[in-house]
Amino acid sequence: MILVTGATGLTGSAIIREFARQGAPVRALFRNPDKARQFRGLVGVELVQGDMLRPESLTEAFRGVERVLMISSPEERMVETQSVFVDAAKAAGIPHIVKLSGKESGIGFDADRFQGTREHEEIERYLEASGLAWTHLRPSQFMNRYLPGALTGVDPGRRELRLPIGDIRLSPVDTEDIAKVAVGLLRSEGHEGKAYDMTGPEALSMKEVVEHISDATGTDFRYVEVGLEDKLQEFRDGGVPEPAVRIVEQQLVERARHPESHVRLEAHRAFGVEPTSFAEFARRNAKAFLG
Ligand SMILES: NC(=O)c1ccc[n+]([C@@H]2O[C@H](COP(=O)([O-])OP(=O)(O)OC[C@H]3O[C@@H](n4cnc5c(N)ncnc54)[C@H](OP(=O)(O)O)[C@@H]3O)[C@@H](O)[C@H]2O)c1
Repeated sequence: MILVTGATGLTGSAIIREFARQGAPVRALFRNPDKARQFRGLVGVELVQGDMLRPESLTEAFRGVERVLMISSPEERMVETQSVFVDAAKAAGIPHIVKLSGKESGIGFDADRFQGTREHEEIERYLEASGLAWTHLRPSQFMNRYLPGALTGVDPGRRELRLPIGDIRLSPVDTEDIAKVAVGLLRSEGHEGKAYDMTGPEALSMKEVVEHISDATGTDFRYVEVGLEDKLQEFRDGGVPEPAVRIVEQQLVERARHPESHVRLEAHRAFGVEPTSFAEFARRNAKAFLG
């Protein structure tokens, strides 16, 4: 049996749907029954409630499990959550944990300068030292981060992508590709002690990103380069809490320091997954881009 944590989140839910699509059994860990309703009717998906921070709530989830895909929210005590979970899995005799990481694959962020990278590195080291077999899957920025509603997404009212990152190029990846790679990895052998970096198929400037969104929606979107302080004020005006503003600030500053993202498609190739281009992603999400 394979257990997926964070199953109701963005990547976790795509991964559960991919298991179901392939007709492969999986166990999905959820906290909130309302969010777990999305999986009703999916054949082969076993739902188990539990809290990664409370090992005593995980007994049922761990029963008969050979491999775990460990995911939790970046915003929510991630180091503590995943460290407690690794200890609990070890105590329960789970042999192998695959960690969905976030070391800004394809860019090489300085962990001292961005909390997200730092926390994922810390958890990777903790897992590696646990004595369990481990694998790290490290996707780059998700394409979803350009959708309205994401902090760094387009403003559908103004038809603008407003960011303080100049002409840099990023190589975002589709979460549907992550789901296919993750399921391929979890269902095959020989990945212990390996790390898989994974990006989308192109390093795109923000101008190119909005060109794809414009083509897909048939509506003119434009990239507007705003000042960093102005962008941070936009977040605050939108009600984003100060700690979250600080983390996005670190990420934007670090992105600007790394103007050329690499393209890393080894994981796609290893698991026979056709990389989704941003143009395809934009077509699939054209309605969402229009708000
Ligand atoms: N955003 C990016 O561009 C990017 C790029 C690379 C890597 N990543 C990494 O990818 C990972 C997944 O991101 P995501 O966007 O899929 O996250 P997400 O949508 O926030 O989902 C996180 C999931 O973890 C669950 N969770 C959190 N704490 C839990 C606990 N104590 N017990 C049980 N479940 C718990 C949440 O449950 P609830 O539904 O109950 O809240 C949710 O289902 C993160 O570590 C992130 O850093 C992100």
